[in-house]
Amino acid sequence: MKINTAEFLVSNQDPKLCPTPNKPEFAFIGRSNVGKSSLINMLCNHKGLAKTSSTPGKTQLINHFLINQTWYLVDLPGFGYAKVSKTKRGEFSKIITGYLRGRQNLVNVYLLLDSRLEPQKIDLEFMEWLGENQIPFSMVFTKTDKITSSVLVKNLKVYKTQMLKTWEELPKIYTTSSTSKMGKEELLNEIGDLVEQLKDFKFV
Ligand code: GTP
Ligand code: MG
Repeated sequence: MKINTAEFLVSNQDPKLCPTPNKPEFAFIGRSNVGKSSLINMLCNHKGLAKTSSTPGKTQLINHFLINQTWYLVDLPGFGYAKVSKTKRGEFSKIITGYLRGRQNLVNVYLLLDSRLEPQKIDLEFMEWLGENQIPFSMVFTKTDKITSSVLVKNLKVYKTQMLKTWEELPKIYTTSSTSKMGKEELLNEIGDLVEQLKDFKFV
């Protein structure tokens, strides 16, 4: 799939105020600074679409984008940012969990994981939560340009071994870089196929 048009629609903290759920929706989530906004901009060929920052915690809202007039892309707040106070963190997670549980047109969640790091507790816990709530997701490893391919292979192996301790089956895995555009086609093709399959589905 090619992205021809990408427009920012609305930002808010209240899942109830999100756009009418009448189109398939795909959400991007992950720890602060993992590269969500950069990946979204890379996928959409649009540098300033989602705000990026080297300061973690930049995206604190549910941001909706309308793509090709046919589907919604969502940039969610980063979770697990240590410098945000405890109550604030709780507030983030309520926004995130409320949105993820309640959004009826949500087709798939892309959980971004830093390819340089070993499995992080908060990410593993978040995947457990998604599983318990039967929310479909894929794993998207980011910033692969910052490591060699052999380190990437090694890190993925560690991740898979860790996951298989609790998961019977692994979700789909993508390896990406916003800088080199690695993984762009694979991700967009998956979303494109799902959008096509759902073209006659009535969400509301
Ligand atoms: P929050 O909105 O704070 O949760 O962060 P985010 O997950 O949206 O991260 P963002 O896209 O703002 O990126 C954080 C930092 O990582 C920025 O300095 C980006 O330039 C950098 N970055 C993101 N993706 C990549 C990548 O694929 N390669 C490299 N080299 N740097 C990246
Ligand atoms: Mg962001």
